Amino acid sequence: MAQYSPEIERSHITRLPDVNFDNLVFGEQFSDHQYELLYHEDTWGSPRIIPYGPIPVFPAVTTLHYGQAVFEGMKAFRYRDGRINIFRLEDHYNRFVRSCERLCIPPVPRPFFVEGIKTLIDIDREWVPRSKYKSLYIRPIVFASDQTLGLRRSRSYRFHILCGPVGDYYSEGIKPIRLTTMPQYVRAVQGGVGDVKVPGNYAASLKPTLEAQEKGYTQVLWLDAREHRFVEEVGSMNIFFVIDDVLVTPPLNGTILPGITRSCVLELALLKGLRVDERPVSIDELIGLHGSGSLSEIFGSGTAAVISPVGHIHHQGRTITILSKEMGPVARWFYDQITAVHHGEIPDEKSWCTII
Ligand SMILES: Cc1ncc(COP(=O)(O)O)c(C=O)c1O
Repeated sequence: MAQYSPEIERSHITRLPDVNFDNLVFGEQFSDHQYELLYHEDTWGSPRIIPYGPIPVFPAVTTLHYGQAVFEGMKAFRYRDGRINIFRLEDHYNRFVRSCERLCIPPVPRPFFVEGIKTLIDIDREWVPRSKYKSLYIRPIVFASDQTLGLRRSRSYRFHILCGPVGDYYSEGIKPIRLTTMPQYVRAVQGGVGDVKVPGNYAASLKPTLEAQEKGYTQVLWLDAREHRFVEEVGSMNIFFVIDDVLVTPPLNGTILPGITRSCVLELALLKGLRVDERPVSIDELIGLHGSGSLSEIFGSGTAAVISPVGHIHHQGRTITILSKEMGPVARWFYDQITAVHHGEIPDEKSWCTII
């Protein structure tokens, strides 16, 4: 395998002065550089860091037709002393490798991913926002680049890492989200690709999400594909319930994305001494628990929002309303703990932080 020693071509200009860090729209701003690594003839080539800009892609590349691609999403945060924390970098790499295996993509070797991200963020470190809750979003993506309309595993791939500053998800205050089930649609099936991070999952979620939004809901509450009863995920977040002081979340059964934030919540819950139960939860059970007063909080977890309280769930004419105006105390505790680790305000006991 080639050594990790990237060629670096610096951008002559910086777009930093054009960025309004007080008004960042998620995913709309990109830093000055990107990382590029190509795969040809059974081997990954030499990595390069180059100015952010267009890349050569022919209309026949198989990704555009058959979707052989995988991505990740993680964040880097600034400590008050200027150091930068890339959060749970190794865990994101491990998930990336699992996703690649599922799509027959040769995994990018660890140093080419991990060190590549570190080098890129170091070069673009001025792009990491300085205020709390803001961060630099990091998007690694690998995609098939053979030119053929034949349906087969590609022999060449492009791996890119791009990044850009993103704002405080809650700049307008924490508004609990409104969910609806959409039993006519499913997100993932057993044996499918719901548990890996592939673009097609997100393309397939657009129509159900749009229909939910047209009815006034924020996101879809995804149910299982077999019985349309068991709760799996919320939009693109994992889901948690507080039931009689126990933290409950559906088990990773092959259709749920193993969220890195989900694992933060579970690990912190153990530290807090909170009882945790990973078990299937049906929508009817939730409605019953709500009626009996046992259900005290619902929240989603994910890299983008960290913790997102759920205020309403609609299911076939019935609605659960719970803490519809504010984040509940359990969700708030996880949010405060995780964001404190992000910014180095409390010790990183679990070794989640890669500091550069
Ligand atoms: C479908 C889905 N579920 C859950 C999550 C949450 O995962 P993470 O906490 O790693 O961001 C994401 C976001 O990546 C997602 O796309």
